[in-house]
Amino acid sequence: MRRAGSKIHVSDTDTEVLVRAEGLFKVFGRRTHDAVEKLRKGTPRDQIDGVTAAVIDASFEVNRGEIFVVMGLSGSGKSTLIRMLNGLHDATAGKLQINGQEITTISDKKLREIRRSSISMVFQHFALLPHRTVIDNVAYPLEIQGVPQAKRLARAQEILDMVDLGSWGDKFPNELSGGMQQRVGIARALAADTDILLMDEAFSALDPLIRREMQEQLVELQQKLHKTIIFITHDLNEAMFLGDRIAVMRDGRIVQIGSPEDILTDPANDYVEQFVQDVDRARVLTAGNVMEKPRPVVSETSGPRTALRAMREPFLAAVFVVDRNRKLIGMVSDRDAVKAVRRGDRSLAGIIKPVPSVVQASDVLIDIFVPAVESPLPLAVVDEDERLVGVIPRVTLLAALGPGPDATGEITLPHEPVPTSIIDQVLADSEPDVPATDSKEAN
Ligand SMILES: Nc1ncnc2c1ncn2[C@@H]1O[C@H](COP(=O)(O)OP(=O)(O)OP(=O)(O)O)[C@@H](O)[C@H]1O
Ligand SMILES: [Mg+2]
Repeated sequence: MRRAGSKIHVSDTDTEVLVRAEGLFKVFGRRTHDAVEKLRKGTPRDQIDGVTAAVIDASFEVNRGEIFVVMGLSGSGKSTLIRMLNGLHDATAGKLQINGQEITTISDKKLREIRRSSISMVFQHFALLPHRTVIDNVAYPLEIQGVPQAKRLARAQEILDMVDLGSWGDKFPNELSGGMQQRVGIARALAADTDILLMDEAFSALDPLIRREMQEQLVELQQKLHKTIIFITHDLNEAMFLGDRIAVMRDGRIVQIGSPEDILTDPANDYVEQFVQDVDRARVLTAGNVMEKPRPVVSETSGPRTALRAMREPFLAAVFVVDRNRKLIGMVSDRDAVKAVRRGDRSLAGIIKPVPSVVQASDVLIDIFVPAVESPLPLAVVDEDERLVGVIPRVTLLAALGPGPDATGEITLPHEPVPTSIIDQVLADSEPDVPATDSKEAN
C-alpha cells in the first residue's frame, strides 16, 4: 500500500485552515481561571492544588482535507482537547475557530448548529443503536436532520457500499464483527456529511490485523472523500501511518507538531525521541525520504565512453540512462560499455537494458524491500512523471531503518565492477564517442 502518495501535499497558498486553536486551556476543578494564570506564568501543573490541567496552552491549525493526528500517552489530554472542538467541553481559556467562526464566544444555540453541520464523531466502542438495523444506524444522523425516509435510506445505502458493507444493511449490529461495526460507525459519521470527522481511538478496540485493515480502508476512503479528520490515538505506528501531520501531547501540552517524517527524523525533545524509537520506520518513511542523488547517470544521447567514465570513479558496474527530460530510459552495464567501446560504437542505443527495479518516490520502505533484495543494483527512484529522482543503495535502505546489526554492509553488485585499469586501457585505445557530445553527462 502506498501511503505517502495519498497524503495531501497542498502548497501554502491553497491550504484552508478549518480548525484553529490559540492558547487553548481546559482546567477541571475550582478556581480554574486562577490556575490558567499560574500555568501561563510557568507554574508546573502538579504544583497547582485542587485542579486538573488537562489541556495547557494548545495552539494548532488543522487544514482542510488533512488527517491530523493527536497522539500521546493515556491522560495526556487528547480526548479533552477534541471534546472542546465538538463542544462537549467549554474551553477554560483561549481561542478556538471552526470554519472561520470563533466558537468560544458564540451562543449555545449557534454552537450546536455549527457542530451539527460541521463535525461528526466516530467513537471507540462504535456506539451503534442495538435495536436498529445497520442501514437505520447509518441513516440516523439524516433522520435527526429531518431528511425524508426514502432519501436518507438511499444515501445510507450509498455510504454502506462505500465501506464495503452494501449487503449488510438489514442486519443488526450484534450480527457484525467488531471491524464491521466500526465501519458502520464510520459510515454513520459520513452520512451526516460534515467537513470534519473526529475519531477518538476509533480503532483501538479492534484486533491488530483488523485494525491494520481499518487504517488502510480509512486512507482509501479519505482519498475519495477528502474529509478533514482529527484522529486520536496513543499508538505511534497508527499515528505515523494515518497522519498527514501529528501533534504529540505530553502532560496536557502539545510538545511537537509535524509530519510523520519530521517527528521521526527530528524529534523535538527526548520524550518524542523515546516515543519514536519503537516506530516501524518501514511503514512511515518513503523512498523519497531516504533516496540519494541519482548517480551515475548519463543521457541517452551520450556514447559508451561517457558511460564508462561515469562508472569508473564510483566503481559502479552500471549506469542509469535518462532522456532529455530526465525520464528513466534504462541502464547500461560496464561490461557492455567496454564491449561497445572496443567495437567502436558511438552511441548507447544497442546496449541500453531495462532497469530491473524501479520504485516510486512515494512508496513506503516496506514495499520496496522485495525489489531491493532482488535488485542487483541500487534501486532507481522515479517521480510521477517517471523522471529519475534518486537511487537507493541497499545499505541506505538498511541504515534508514535505524541502527541495527545490518546497518552497514557492502552493496552487492551483479558482478565485480570492471577494474579501473581496464577501463582506462579501453578508453585510451578508442576514439571519442561523438565529439560534440563527448562530455555531456546528464547531471
Ligand atoms: N471531566 C473530567 N473531570 C476531571 N478531570 C478530567 C475530566 N476529563 C478528563 N480529566 C482529566 O484530564 C486529564 C486528561 O484526560 P484525557 O481523557 O483528555 O486524556 P487522554 O489523553 O484522552 O487519555 P486516554 O488515552 O486514556 O484516553 C486526565 O488527568 C484526566 O483524569
Ligand atoms: Mg482519551
